[in-house]
Amino acid sequence: MLETRKIHIALPSTGEEEWQAAREPLLNGWLTQGPKVAEFEKEFAARHTVSHGLAVTSCTTGLHLALEALGVGPGDEVIVPAFTWVATANVVLYCGATPVFCDVDRETFNIKIEDIASKITNKTKAIVLVHLFGLCADVDAVKAIVPPHIKILEDAACAAGASYKNRPAGSLGDMGVFSFHPRKSITTGEGGMVTTNDKELNRLSDIMRNHGAEISEEARHNSAKPYLLPDFKMLGYNYRMTDLQAAVGLVQLKKLDKFIEERDTWAKYYIEGLKDISWLSPQSTPSYCTQHAWQAFVCYVDPDKAPMPRNDIMDILQSKGIATRPGTHAVHMLTFYREKYGIRSEDFPGARDCDQNTMAIPLHNKMTKEDFDYVVEALHAIN
Ligand SMILES: Cc1ncc(COP(=O)(O)O)c(C=O)c1O
Repeated sequence: MLETRKIHIALPSTGEEEWQAAREPLLNGWLTQGPKVAEFEKEFAARHTVSHGLAVTSCTTGLHLALEALGVGPGDEVIVPAFTWVATANVVLYCGATPVFCDVDRETFNIKIEDIASKITNKTKAIVLVHLFGLCADVDAVKAIVPPHIKILEDAACAAGASYKNRPAGSLGDMGVFSFHPRKSITTGEGGMVTTNDKELNRLSDIMRNHGAEISEEARHNSAKPYLLPDFKMLGYNYRMTDLQAAVGLVQLKKLDKFIEERDTWAKYYIEGLKDISWLSPQSTPSYCTQHAWQAFVCYVDPDKAPMPRNDIMDILQSKGIATRPGTHAVHMLTFYREKYGIRSEDFPGARDCDQNTMAIPLHNKMTKEDFDYVVEALHAIN
């Protein structure tokens, strides 16, 4: 065994360039949403081949805005995968609507296509497709099942730079939302981006992002009419990104393709290096996935074949300085949802199994070949 290392599950790749970029808004005094946000939105939208990008405070607030813009409200149902970050379901409740869980596939960890049809009712307003860990859900298969009046919202929190049949994440449904949390491939600290090709959906989201105001802060500030105050015709929020964050985001966005390329190379290195461990199956990458963004490298630990329970494996890796995490959680098993809807864990067996048996191993852009070899060797030593 090589000497003990300390390998984080994820590390943001930020440094001198991001630091320098943040100086400009600090020096010119435009700190809140302004020209940097506008530039970041334009560049991000272009990279993901959509007409509009709308920067927000997080993916969670972006998902909330998107559902509101899509007209989701009380009495509506929204289909969400049961294995995802809790925010995917929470935002449906923010709108006063009901999340309807759908099971997930144990190999891709994404929504189980065969189970979607049975979840559709005359109250279904939208479906949230999560591209979990950067692997796009099979959007065309979903479109073949759901009637056209049901809106498709991509939860692309993990999927900046990912593509499906050569079409970028964020351009595949009616709207998409990305996260720039530090565990994602590119970061602005906290932050998110709403994408759409629909001018009206973008306009509504834009207004709701800024308290429901029809005039942006920047337009108001630059106006020749000092008495100009916006009118408020709808309920809004303050979900605005700051120019400080957008300045950092612009630098990060320029590095996105390089980051994804590196992650792809190392993910393939892991897949090759781990292929003879019979109890460990990395997230499968179907051929429709033309670019996996590898936000995280998540494996399924087969409980029938593994020499010990997943948590013991995680403890051993931890003792060797290797950080791991469960992939994510089964939302239907969280106390709040379990008690609210009286759901049993066995109602969504795929999500339950993924909750109990998935394990993310370290993958980020600051890891070296020695780090990857160390993780592969540590996993081989478990028997
Ligand atoms: C699938 C998914 N959706 C939504 C979110 C929420 O993102 P944010 O932290 O930017 O609100 C996350 C965050 O991890 C996520 O993984």
